[in-house]
Amino acid sequence: MCGILGYIGNQKKTVDVLLQGLSRLEYRGYDSSGIAIIQNGKSKVFKSKGKLSKLKTKINKHSPKGSLGIGHTRWATHGDASQKNAHPHISGGTSVVHNGIIENYLDLKNELKKKGYKFYSDTDTEVIAHLIEDMSASGLDFEDAARAAFKKIEGSYAIAVISDKNPDKVIATRKFSPLILAIGDHENYLASDVPAILPFSRKVVYLEDGDVAVLERDNVRITDLDGNELKRKVQSINWDPISVEKCGYRHFMMKEIYEQPQAILDTMRGRFSEETGEIFLEGFDPAMFKDINRIVALACGTSYHASLIGKYMIEKIAKVSVEVDIASEFRYRNPIIDRKTLAIAVSQSGETADTSEALVEAKSRGAKTISITNVMMSKIARDSDRVIYTHAGPEIGVASTKAFTTQLIAFYLFAIYLGRIKKQITKKQAIEMIKDALSIPQLIQVVLKLDNQIKELAKEFFTYRNFLYLGRGINYPIAFEGALKLKEISYIHAEGYAAGEMKHGPIALIDEDMPIVLIAPGDGVSNKKILGNLQEVRARKGKVIFLTSDLSAPEIKGNVDKIIEVPDCPNLLSPIVSIVPLQLLAYHIATYKGTDVDQPRNLAKVVTVE
Ligand code: M6R
Repeated sequence: MCGILGYIGNQKKTVDVLLQGLSRLEYRGYDSSGIAIIQNGKSKVFKSKGKLSKLKTKINKHSPKGSLGIGHTRWATHGDASQKNAHPHISGGTSVVHNGIIENYLDLKNELKKKGYKFYSDTDTEVIAHLIEDMSASGLDFEDAARAAFKKIEGSYAIAVISDKNPDKVIATRKFSPLILAIGDHENYLASDVPAILPFSRKVVYLEDGDVAVLERDNVRITDLDGNELKRKVQSINWDPISVEKCGYRHFMMKEIYEQPQAILDTMRGRFSEETGEIFLEGFDPAMFKDINRIVALACGTSYHASLIGKYMIEKIAKVSVEVDIASEFRYRNPIIDRKTLAIAVSQSGETADTSEALVEAKSRGAKTISITNVMMSKIARDSDRVIYTHAGPEIGVASTKAFTTQLIAFYLFAIYLGRIKKQITKKQAIEMIKDALSIPQLIQVVLKLDNQIKELAKEFFTYRNFLYLGRGINYPIAFEGALKLKEISYIHAEGYAAGEMKHGPIALIDEDMPIVLIAPGDGVSNKKILGNLQEVRARKGKVIFLTSDLSAPEIKGNVDKIIEVPDCPNLLSPIVSIVPLQLLAYHIATYKGTDVDQPRNLAKVVTVE
């Protein structure tokens, strides 16, 4: 995790660029933050425990000047969240920021200690600063010293370094952690992620593992670890800078909930023909999928829940069997994979270490691979044979919302694509399915109108300490996802279950202090059965919040405390609609509780550690 940033140039105030950029990277970690700026040939370092706002207050008293600097926002791995462990770490005139884990740091630390280097923090990062200083002491110039140090470290990292001895360069490298360069006019930037630099530049270079970038005011060079020059493509980013602003919303999460109709349209755009029922997925070739007889989906958290729904879609439409694996478990259980297996890695960030490693494992066992991700050129995108990008735009709130619903639409498009290849659906059916998908943005708009009603509902329920979410059929993963949203932003204990499981254990929990969210859109078999669950809950005095699109059943009247009425919707797409009120419910409960919605405690948006 962690976010890193670098700037060199005379066009802007370095301190402003660093703080603005870090505020857009804060979603990656917010235990502590810090910057280093070279002012009159000397590094000035400012650090603070806690949110970036604390660092800003501290810096305001000093307003450091200088034309290059680096910054960091931290999610603790080695060493607690404290000022001492905040980055940048310093040795002599070398300042370093780092995202990732240095696996051999203990060996390196011992060697450096023997040479007399003193360590002030508990971090793995500090060894990098001392290593570079040590290489400089042996006579190497800054660039060669940095490369020599980078060669010695093992693990995953994105690193940025500045040095008082050479105050005209920012040097950076990466391995398994993301890092981009952004090219400006007489100024250059580096950052962990695109949103940080979006207001400054849209010309971006995605660094590759082992690249070393040397940023000067008017020049950017990329070399390998031996100093050989490399060519990397400059790409144009089409994200709008506005997309990383709150635009009047109190929280990014709320903005992102409201962006879902547009994000779904954007994810579908250009990928279907309403006339022929064809699905167009960039770079996809039907030949790749002809022999596929089994699919494994690999993901974590919300992306895992999307994959559980993707399984329903693919099995129903394309009749290919799908297993869904929690990515962190997959590679430790000797999975059975062959050349006829397709692995689908699903990840908003495209960086999640568990998912990325699971993908590599599946590939090494011979699987064909595709990914569904929101971040262009992310590690998972680069490691898969083909990618379906969700066009959700940057998702800043730690709780995933629009990434989830766009993943669902991506799964749906892929299911139709595969269904046609496998001749499991006719052209006419494909056309109907596309029509169904096109109706979804409008249906979400209808649900968003329930916002005030759900806010009122939240007011009545925010003091409860436990919640149970139950769903059936294609909506049972929505029970997991609704519960995850609630627990991560409101810190209320919440469990999601397939409703049929209730009688096998969770029913023991039910009493008048346990609100139960019953998810029952549509009027199919699943819902008839959920009405049975409703009676069981009621008999034990549980409080029921009933989410449905069909109020006709007589069992509902008098048996539910609150109703969330969602519009009727084609069954396979109903999870995309039914999750929206549950996102709103979690959001409003969290705001009543006064928690930090966009940056909940202990979490980070991108989890790049196993
Ligand atoms: O970037 P990814 O989709 O791979 O992230 C996976 C999970 O870490 C993520 O979905 C997490 O569970 C979210 N905080 C959920 O809101």
